[in-house]
Amino acid sequence: MDHKRQIYRNRRVALLKHMRATTGGGLALIPTAPEVARNRDSHFPYRHDSYFYYVSGFPEPEAVVALVAAEDGDRHLLFCREKNPEREVWDGFRYGPDAAREVFGFDAAHPLGEMDSVLADLCCDRPALYTPLGLLPAWDRKVTDLINEVRGRARTGVAPPEHIVDVRQSLDAMRLVKDAHEQALMRRAALISSGAHRRAMATTRPGWFEYQVEAELAHEFLRSGAQAVAYPSIVAGGPNACVLHYRDNSRQLQDGELLLIDAGCEYQGYASDITRTFPVNGRFSAPQKDVYELVLAAQAACIAAIQPGGEFHDYHRAAERVLAQGFIDLGLCPGTLDEVLESGSYKQFYMHRAGHWLGMDVHDAGLYQTRGESIRLSPGMVLTVEPGAYIRPADNVPEAFWNIGVRIEDDLLVTVSGSENLTQATPRTVAAVEEACRRD
Ligand code: GLY
Ligand code: MN
Ligand code: MN
Repeated sequence: MDHKRQIYRNRRVALLKHMRATTGGGLALIPTAPEVARNRDSHFPYRHDSYFYYVSGFPEPEAVVALVAAEDGDRHLLFCREKNPEREVWDGFRYGPDAAREVFGFDAAHPLGEMDSVLADLCCDRPALYTPLGLLPAWDRKVTDLINEVRGRARTGVAPPEHIVDVRQSLDAMRLVKDAHEQALMRRAALISSGAHRRAMATTRPGWFEYQVEAELAHEFLRSGAQAVAYPSIVAGGPNACVLHYRDNSRQLQDGELLLIDAGCEYQGYASDITRTFPVNGRFSAPQKDVYELVLAAQAACIAAIQPGGEFHDYHRAAERVLAQGFIDLGLCPGTLDEVLESGSYKQFYMHRAGHWLGMDVHDAGLYQTRGESIRLSPGMVLTVEPGAYIRPADNVPEAFWNIGVRIEDDLLVTVSGSENLTQATPRTVAAVEEACRRD
C-alpha cells in the first residue's frame, strides 16, 4: 500500500482503537463539508471538512467515511459520488467508488445513493455511534432518521446504539499532535507564506492600496503551489493595524505609516499563519521602532516559554509581563508591573491571547484546558506565537504613538528540546525587515 494511503488508513485504525477502548467499539460516521452556493450557478470554492479529510485524504464533496469496530473485525467504508461522464464534462473528474476504494485504501466503497440502506444495517446492535453532532443541520437530521429507522426495527430483535458520541472530541486529541506527514506539509505551507511576506515587503510603496498588496500575497501563494488562503488576508495600513480582524483592505497607504499584514496560505489542507508589520516607506520612525522592539521582545519571551511539558498558557503569561513592563517604560501605562498586571490596564494596548493551535484549520482543533487545567505541550503540537501592541488615539496616550499597531506572528512546532520556528524565513528583526523593504 502506498505511503500516503497508509497514513490515512493508520489514522482510521487509531480512531477504531480509541472506539474499542472507550465504548467497546461501534460505528463512526464522518461526513465531508457540503458545497455552498454563492448565487445562482456559482459556488464558493469548495473546501473539504477537516475531520473527514484527516481520516480519508479524499478531496470530493458528497462523501461519508463509515468505520466499524466489531467483534468480527474492523471495516473501513467510503460512500461517494458515482462516476458520471456527463457531469465530468462540465465539472471535472470524480473518482467513483471503485477507484476511490483503491486509491484511498478503503475495504469497500459504495455510491452515496446506497448509503441510507447500508447505514441502517450497519447501525444495528452497536454499542456506540461516533459522529459530529451539531455541526451540519442536514447531517444531524440524517443521524436522527437513521436511529429512528433502527428503532422501528425493534420487533425484529435489533437495537439502536446505546451511546451517541461526538467523534470530533476523539479526533481533536489526535489532530493536536501532528505526525511527520503533517509536519512536512506545514513546513511547506510556512515556507510559501514566508515568501509572500517577503514579496510584500519588497514591493509595497507609499500610494499603493491595501488590496494591491493583497494581490502580491495571493500571487506568491498560488504560484508556489498553495491552493488557497488559510483565512482572508489582513492587509492593514496606518490606523487599520489597530483593528484586529480588519477585512476591507481598501485604504491607500501613506508615507510614514506602518503596514500590518496577517496572511498565510493553505497547502494540501494545512494552514500557515504569519503576521509581519513593516514601514510603508521602508524605514521605522523612532516611536514605531520602540513599539516594534517591544513586541519583538515579547515574542522572544513567548518562544522561550514554549517547552515540552510546560503549560499552554505559560507563553501568554510571558507576553503579558513583557508587554506590560514595556507599556510602563514607554509612558503608556502608569504604575508598577504588579499593579498594571493586576488592574489589566495593559489591555488597552494588548487585548488578545498570545496564540492558538495551528493545523488543518487556522484556529485548529484541540482543547486549551480541561477542567481548569492547562493542556501541557508535547512534541508534534503546533501553535502560533503572536503578541502585539495596538495604540489607538486616546487622551492618555502621547500623540507620537497614535495609530501604531504591531503584531509579529510565527508558527512554532513543539520539539523534544523546545521548538522549531516553521516561519523563520520571514524577516523579523528591525534590521532584517528594513533590509527586506529596501528600495533599490
Ligand atoms: N490570522 C488569524 C489569527 O492570527 O488568529
Ligand atoms: Mn494566528
Ligand atoms: Mn494571524
